This record gives sequence, C-alpha cells and structure tokens, in this order.
Amino acid sequence: MSLSKAHSAIPDPKVQAVLDRLHKNAEAEMDAFIQDQEPRPQPEPQPFDAEGAVDFFRDKYISLEREQGNLLYLLARSLGARRSVEFGTSFGVSTTYLAAAMRDNGGGLVIGSEIQPSKAAVARENLKEAGLADFAEIRVGDARETLSDLGELVDIVLIDGFPNLNLTILKLLAPQVRLGGLVMADNVGSFPLEMGDYVAWVQNLSNGFTSTTLPLRGGTELSIKIVDSFNGN
Ligand SMILES: C[S@@+](CC[C@H](N)C(=O)[O-])C[C@H]1O[C@@H](n2cnc3c(N)ncnc32)[C@H](O)[C@@H]1O
Repeated sequence: MSLSKAHSAIPDPKVQAVLDRLHKNAEAEMDAFIQDQEPRPQPEPQPFDAEGAVDFFRDKYISLEREQGNLLYLLARSLGARRSVEFGTSFGVSTTYLAAAMRDNGGGLVIGSEIQPSKAAVARENLKEAGLADFAEIRVGDARETLSDLGELVDIVLIDGFPNLNLTILKLLAPQVRLGGLVMADNVGSFPLEMGDYVAWVQNLSNGFTSTTLPLRGGTELSIKIVDSFNGN
C-alpha cells in the first residue's frame, strides 16, 4: 500500500485546492532552503536568531506540514471546536485548517495573529479563495498584545510563531483555554534550545496541562488543559 502524503482530511475540494497550492509553494521553498544549507552543515543546534528572523521570514511560508494540518483539523473537529486561536499565521496555511474545522463544526472563529501586515493580507486572500473568510479574523501586530484578550475561552490553540516567544504566548493563552481544550505546538524538533523550556513547562502538571511530544516534523507538542488554575510562572 502506498501512503499518500497529499491526502487531505478536509472533505471540501475548494479548500483542498487552496491548501494544495500553498503546501506545494511551502515545500518548494523549504527544498530550496535545505539545498542552500547542505554545503554548510551545522552539527550543533543553533540558537534562534530572533533579531534577524523578522526580516528573513518576511516573505517565507514556514508553514505546518500537511500531516500536522490534517491532525489539527481532525482534533478541532473531534472537540466540536467553535473557537480557536493561533500564534503565527504567515500566509494562512494553519489558519485555513482551523477555519475549515470551525465551519465544518457548524460555525465559529479562528483568531490568527501575524506581525507582518503583508503576510496577513495574503492570508486573508487565501482564506477568501477557500470560501472561509467568514470563519477567520487575523489580528495584525505583536501577538503579545493582539492575543492578550480573546474575549471568550477557546477550544483549541496552535502555537507556531517564532520559537523564542512560544512559551510567553502559551502563558498568555493558557488561562483563555477551556478545560479539556488542546494546544498544539510546532518546532519542538527544529528549535530544541528554545522549545526545551516550552516542553518542560507544558509537561509539568502543576501548570495545568498534560502533554506529549509527537514525532511529526521532528517534534510537535500536543497538550490538553486538565486543571483550571495554574501557577502561571
Ligand atoms: C512559522 S510561521 C507561521 C506558519 C503558519 N502557522 C502556517 O502554518 O502557515 C511564524 C509566523 O509568526 C510571525 N510572528 C513572529 N513573531 C510574531 C509576533 N510577535 N506576533 C505575531 N506574529 C509573529 C512571523 O512573521 C511568521 O509569519
């Protein structure tokens, strides 16, 4: 049996077509980046260059892979999620998975966040093309501010911004997640230095979550909120 990496869990062909185009672009971009790196292997994990990242990633996808997106969609469907939020929208790949789940659950909202206005504008266009514009609100600016008040509790969260801020944003969002709500985080494998603190925090029961690292894209953390009060440190 051959496994189809291109299979989408989202039944809607219109959404599938948009996601397929975006994933192909993102995969081509990543292939070019890897080729560029090959002559200069870096055996040790390098710290994330937060200063340089804003410029370098201004026009890059760095999106979720298809398997991660499918899992996010399935989890959101299974939770019956109507409210979701993500740190890091980029061109809207993950936003599209979440918006599709909100719609397919009967209607809801994904709140995206993106610091680059030009990326947020493209993400909005992609969501429109997928027929999902009514199920997404992208907040432009620093997520430390734009996500500080979501208005209501959310069912599911994606943490996929720059890794140096992921724990800060998780702590900001944790009180805004409902009991039994899920948090997925990318980049555990790609940025072990920065994500080490994130994983340690979310795997510490005293912070109100229980959690595991899945072998998707070298490390994707999946956590469930099990206690309402947490120490917040
Ligand atoms: C890994 S990408 C997100 C990919 C997206 N989730 C997807 O699947 O297509 C991270 C994004 O976070 C954005 N970002 C970084 N720091 C941010 C901040 N403080 N507030 C909001 N967005 C930020 C970057 O501009 C970048 O587009």
